Amino acid sequence: PQAAADVKTKAVPTLPDAAKVTEVKHWNDRLFSFKVERPQTLRFRSGEFVMIGLMNDPDPKTGKQKPLLRAYSIASPSWDEELEFYSIKVQDGPLTSRLQHIQPGDEIILRPKPVGTLVVDALLPGKRLWMFATGTGIAPFASLMREPEVYEKFEEVILMHTCREVSELEYGRQLVEHIKSDEILSEIEDGKLRYYPTTTREAFHHKGRVTDNLASGKVFEDLGIPPLCPENDRGMVCGNLAFNKDIMKILDGFGLREGANSEPKEYVVEKAFVD
Ligand code: A2P
Repeated sequence: PQAAADVKTKAVPTLPDAAKVTEVKHWNDRLFSFKVERPQTLRFRSGEFVMIGLMNDPDPKTGKQKPLLRAYSIASPSWDEELEFYSIKVQDGPLTSRLQHIQPGDEIILRPKPVGTLVVDALLPGKRLWMFATGTGIAPFASLMREPEVYEKFEEVILMHTCREVSELEYGRQLVEHIKSDEILSEIEDGKLRYYPTTTREAFHHKGRVTDNLASGKVFEDLGIPPLCPENDRGMVCGNLAFNKDIMKILDGFGLREGANSEPKEYVVEKAFVD
């Protein structure tokens, strides 16, 4: 019968590891976020990343298509029914030049093997959790900010996000606002989340690089908390390579040590993946 055939056609994915896009939001001409259906078997820890992508155009000679994949932090928390991603758009980027055009109903490739170091398990117990991000490096923190375990384990959670311009902060700003106003999320967050956004190339109420504001002590003054110390403070870092290197030096200077899944310490680092 026709109906049964229709059902069968719909159930067959057209790509290997296909995931259907459910929502796309464009934040400005360089940033967008999107959601896909979560494969029922996919389990991950908030803060981890997966490989996602699209099929390449067919090879003109052989006609063969290969998957073009990049690492993307999952921006949604581990309990969510959908998977969210936050991405830059690079006009000549092999993947994002095409990925930016996806629409609800389209399929992307999602390799269901989440990994990563920005997980609560990779840190020793502490009082305060600092999330240091530049640009799209906020993605893993978008996940962790909605993770109940974070608020069970820490008394205070501070998100520091630095971008060039105000419009690049909007994704994070809206998310923090949502967490603080949503009935369920605000109960989980319990007033523990603090948000410290800065811009470096446009006027804003807080300016300057995360690194400079830490080194000068401005952050501690503004937030009314003592400088970082290895007894109380834990850090998670996600930004461009230069940023990661610079902030690691600063954290080392405060006596914090880099940890890993296998050896939890005071901070962990992950590169924000770009095209
Ligand atoms: P700046 O404007 O001073 O370069 P990008 O878009 O280049 O990835 O940068 C995102 C944000 O991260 C920008 O605000 C940029 O500041 C900041 N940034 C870049 N490199 C570093 C670094 N090494 N240390 C601290 N902040 C950095």
